[in-house]
Amino acid sequence: MAVFSGVSGIMDSLSSGRVAQTLRQVFQEAEQADRPLMEQFVNGDVDEQSLGAVIDQHFAEEQRDLRGFYHGYVNNYLNVTPEYGRFLYQCARVRGATRIVEFGTSMGVSTLHLAAALRDMGGGRLIGTELEPSKAARARTNLETAGLADLVDIRVGDARETLADVGGEIDLVLLDGAFSLYLPVLKLLEPHLKTGTPILAENAFDHDNEYLAYVRNPANGYLSLPIPISEGRGNEFTVVTR
Ligand SMILES: C[S@@+](CC[C@H](N)C(=O)[O-])C[C@H]1O[C@@H](n2cnc3c(N)ncnc32)[C@H](O)[C@@H]1O
Repeated sequence: MAVFSGVSGIMDSLSSGRVAQTLRQVFQEAEQADRPLMEQFVNGDVDEQSLGAVIDQHFAEEQRDLRGFYHGYVNNYLNVTPEYGRFLYQCARVRGATRIVEFGTSMGVSTLHLAAALRDMGGGRLIGTELEPSKAARARTNLETAGLADLVDIRVGDARETLADVGGEIDLVLLDGAFSLYLPVLKLLEPHLKTGTPILAENAFDHDNEYLAYVRNPANGYLSLPIPISEGRGNEFTVVTR
């Protein structure tokens, strides 16, 4: 029987080595690239009412021109925070995940955390998808720098097409793409979800949200709640119960 025996044999690549070094670098780059965008929100004094208006506008723009809208953010990371990245890593480890699906890769910050968990558990497959080819290319470069590229398949295109075949049962899902597509993407993945699969959704804001209404209804085979990690970013944690 394996017993916990102190500090020898530590397997946590977030904390040291190539992955840790790459993460430090990409978080620095992200901070610079996204600072003006973040300042708009943090210093813009967004109260609940105006947040609702911002979300409504975001949904409307996605529906009007999804590709054009996200092309406007081609140089933005829009990445998860270090804290949330660590939580993703922990979820993958606690689940013993070997197949992970990620909707919305951007430059690969969340991908690095999830792929690191796969590496530390002995391997697996992460299928990610990104609309913007140049972002997918930068994510691949970051994964190569971290030594994780062999675990990841980043599919360029619209998740509704690229995730139609994920090749088997899924142990963990991250939804971090177009806000308005969380429910259609979840439904696309549903045949491959297992009892106990966690689904983590970023930017699932509690405002007229069909995705939240669906996963918060236990009759649909989920248990779900908002989590206070990276507060204010609409982080929902859902577990498949069926
Ligand atoms: C919030 S960012 C993802 C951040 C990333 N998870 C990270 O932590 O670094 C959302 C990304 O989803 C992409 N996206 C939006 N709609 C998409 C779709 N339908 N299919 C694939 N990617 C999409 C956008 O281009 C954008 O780069």
